[in-house]
Amino acid sequence: MTITEILQFVDNLIFTETDQHLDDLQKRIIEELFKGKTYKQIAELYNYDEGYIGDESRKLFKTLSDKLGENINKSNFAWTIERVINSKIVSFGGNHNINSYSNCQNSNHPSNNKNSQETEIQKSSYHDLTLSPRIIRFYGREKELEYLSNCILNQNTPLISILGLSGIGKTTLVKRFVDFNLDKFEVIIWKSLKYPKSLNLLIDDLLQVCKQQPEKNLDDKIKQLFNILSTQKCLIILDDIQNIFTPGELAGKYQPEYQDYQPLFKLVTETQHQSNIILISQEQCPEMESLYPELYPIKSLEISGLYHSDILQNTGLKNQDSWLDLIKLYTGNLMFLKTITVLIAKNYDGEVVEFLAENTLHITQQIQSHFQEIYNRLSPIEQQIVLQLSKFENPISREELRQTLIETLNLSSVDFNNGLQSLQQRYLVSKLKEDKVMFSLSSVFREYVRNLSFTLN
Ligand SMILES: Nc1ncnc2c1ncn2[C@@H]1O[C@H](COP(=O)(O)OP(=O)(O)O)[C@@H](O)[C@H]1O
Ligand SMILES: [Mg+2]
Repeated sequence: MTITEILQFVDNLIFTETDQHLDDLQKRIIEELFKGKTYKQIAELYNYDEGYIGDESRKLFKTLSDKLGENINKSNFAWTIERVINSKIVSFGGNHNINSYSNCQNSNHPSNNKNSQETEIQKSSYHDLTLSPRIIRFYGREKELEYLSNCILNQNTPLISILGLSGIGKTTLVKRFVDFNLDKFEVIIWKSLKYPKSLNLLIDDLLQVCKQQPEKNLDDKIKQLFNILSTQKCLIILDDIQNIFTPGELAGKYQPEYQDYQPLFKLVTETQHQSNIILISQEQCPEMESLYPELYPIKSLEISGLYHSDILQNTGLKNQDSWLDLIKLYTGNLMFLKTITVLIAKNYDGEVVEFLAENTLHITQQIQSHFQEIYNRLSPIEQQIVLQLSKFENPISREELRQTLIETLNLSSVDFNNGLQSLQQRYLVSKLKEDKVMFSLSSVFREYVRNLSFTLN
């Protein structure tokens, strides 16, 4: 059972009792109580007074006690909610749409008749987060969460892309945003394109979540979908979008069987509706780019490393004063840091100082196979540029890089420029502005490429 399901369930109970959804603080309290935190710990975490957190919690317990007809307090709260949800899942034959519990339980509750419009929204509220990750620990990213809130909730931007290297925290960030804003949307659907499917099948899935029978042809299905996007406030998340692009070619080129996605993304930005689509990708395509963000209804957020020493808490690592150096070495990429943490625990008994003293950017087996996948997706031109760039310790100007590539590989200017742009769209090459524009490979990737060219030679 995920925290999202629990929050959704409690939110429905509270709503049917009070006509009000959970606010952000109430959601945080519930989430932390489920993790076993005390009022004091929650208060410290979110900068509140302990007494206030206690009062807010007791108000919640009181409403839930009235609603469920049993006495709920701090010590039995998590257990009771889980028990009630489980009993509901059993009695509904394993159907995980736990929203229906409160609708069903409250068919004769006065608040159901009070506002028929609200009841209608409740009935057509569909949340399918089955394929979204469960968040257990979350640090930082306050600015990114604020950016998302502003784009989605204030400006109502229809298409938002979350971009960056894999392992940097894109999926986790979006899930965190969703967890905190469940009540802002009537429909929330999370789809992973890890194993991509045709647009036709994807739209079938979306319509089925909204309990609509898909029409026969794609055009009509798209109309059905846009009808839902217009009449209801929906949030649709499509994760791992890079898998619909062609491996071995420049970034962001749709595979022929997924070409239909391109006009759909355009349609989302060009038509009138009230919904939001979030695309999560390691690779940028033209539909995610906005040259004039103020004018166009497209926004993109590029995620960079998380330089926050708390992310290594409870990992068993020693020498806390050196954690930030370790995080910097691995460019704040949480996936790299996870694998290196295991290695330091096993080979260095957790002594970060000893590991750092060796002055080596160690590429673990996992990082290697991860980059191998990325390297294999590059076009031949990009592979050549990357191999050449890895020879330079410091950032290099475009002209210098172009010269060395033209001399050694006879690469045309057009190919060079396309390759360099594409590598930036994959977040493998970054551009620095000093007195000149300079380019460099992301440092962990550079180390991987160096080891690779050593084995190639
Ligand atoms: N803000 C965060 N706080 C704590 N852990 C995080 C955070 N962001 C990501 N992680 C962890 O890092 C790992 C990679 O994150 P993920 O969101 O899957 O990256 P991406 O989607 O960019 O590939 C996951 O195991 C996740 O739990
Ligand atoms: Mg991801």
